[in-house]
Amino acid sequence: MKVLLTEEQVRAGVEGLARKIEELYQGKPLTMVGVLIGSIVLLADLIRRISIPLRVELVQARRYWGQVRRPGPMAVDLEVLAAAVRERHVLLVDDIFDTGQTIAELIPMLDELDPLSIRTAVLLRKQGRSQVDFQPDLVAFDIPDVFVVGYGLDYKDMYRNLPYVAALEPDELAA
Ligand code: IMP
Ligand code: MG
Repeated sequence: MKVLLTEEQVRAGVEGLARKIEELYQGKPLTMVGVLIGSIVLLADLIRRISIPLRVELVQARRYWGQVRRPGPMAVDLEVLAAAVRERHVLLVDDIFDTGQTIAELIPMLDELDPLSIRTAVLLRKQGRSQVDFQPDLVAFDIPDVFVVGYGLDYKDMYRNLPYVAALEPDELAA
């Protein structure tokens, strides 16, 4: 395992996101919607650095197992979500923007609920991987195309608890 972003670097990146979010949503009704499970560490740190009023909601997107996308429906409770985003600005928060498919599936669902606006914030964006025609609005770090774990990101449901972001070596990915 090779450390890509130290705890200090991650903290600085999160702080940067928090300042931008305060600027963008000052005086506006904001609901931050975290994408389970990967966003929980970022979301928990991020909201504590933001001093403007906000609401928090969670959605469950499609799951990955290892590096493979698991088929199956998105588990989103639209009724709960509708109440949280009605007449509010939505900021979707995820750990990483890779192909963009997760966010691309969630945005139309949220859009149906008629929020005032929808933006996306991620800790990481992988270079050269996007398969969609949009980019996240707020990105803390651009990283190379490597498989990363830690700070919420998992490999086979492990490593989420690491306080830094690390790239797994090929032999660790095979294990
Ligand atoms: P996308 O839909 O391809 O953008 O992928 C986004 C989701 O894939 C993230 O929410 C992560 O759960 C997962 N993911 C993508 N790349 C990685 C990685 O390098 N490590 C761990 N999870 C990843
Ligand atoms: Mg995820």
